[in-house]
Amino acid sequence: MMRLDKMLSHVGYGSRKEVKALIRKGYVLVNGECVTDDDYKVDEINDEVTIANQEVSYQHNIYIMLNKPDGYISATWDFHDPTVLDLIDGYEKRNLFPVGRLDKDTEGLLLITSDGDLAHRMLSPKSHVDKKYYLRYDGEFKESYHSIFESGVELDDGYVCMPAKFIELGNNEGEIIIKEGKFHQVKRMMEAVGCKVTYLKRIEFGALKLDEGLKLGEYRVLTDEELKLIL
Ligand code: URA
Repeated sequence: MMRLDKMLSHVGYGSRKEVKALIRKGYVLVNGECVTDDDYKVDEINDEVTIANQEVSYQHNIYIMLNKPDGYISATWDFHDPTVLDLIDGYEKRNLFPVGRLDKDTEGLLLITSDGDLAHRMLSPKSHVDKKYYLRYDGEFKESYHSIFESGVELDDGYVCMPAKFIELGNNEGEIIIKEGKFHQVKRMMEAVGCKVTYLKRIEFGALKLDEGLKLGEYRVLTDEELKLIL
């Protein structure tokens, strides 16, 4: 059992003060009954809680999909630049962190969570989680480069990448699917065949697809269907 205001704040409906206001205004129902008392004790697993007719499901962990904009660092703290966590409101005490890194100038799908086990599973080199990126580039991606990517392109430091797939979209645009997450990996893979990435956006991470309804800098919690795909 836990306090209703604490539960709502935990799952992201705002600060304790903000959710108390929602409760007092009568937006919250527990098992179909309106509750206006913010220290009401709720069974967070078995009670049915709705807020403005939306069902609230309590999760111990938080899972957020962010459409990362250019200019933000994928870290919890940085000395110079804003971090992706600066874009997320209302979860201040939930120990959120980004699952892996996108470069400061890379946009797109970034999972932000408090679930260390999930992050470990998705990032472990052994788990081979596919990451799909859309990119624009300068240079010519020649026909013969497809087989180089498919057999493992060698980077500037001698590292041979795992097999990857490049899909040409025309107009110096493409998509690439990689299974690893080495530092600047896509940029360096393209450089290895004489091309220069001018724009990079992650569109898939494992089974998750970027919600194209999210504008740059916007985020939302994962749906139950998305959670089932990754948990
Ligand atoms: N590869 C890169 O080069 N940069 C990213 O941000 C992600 C993958």
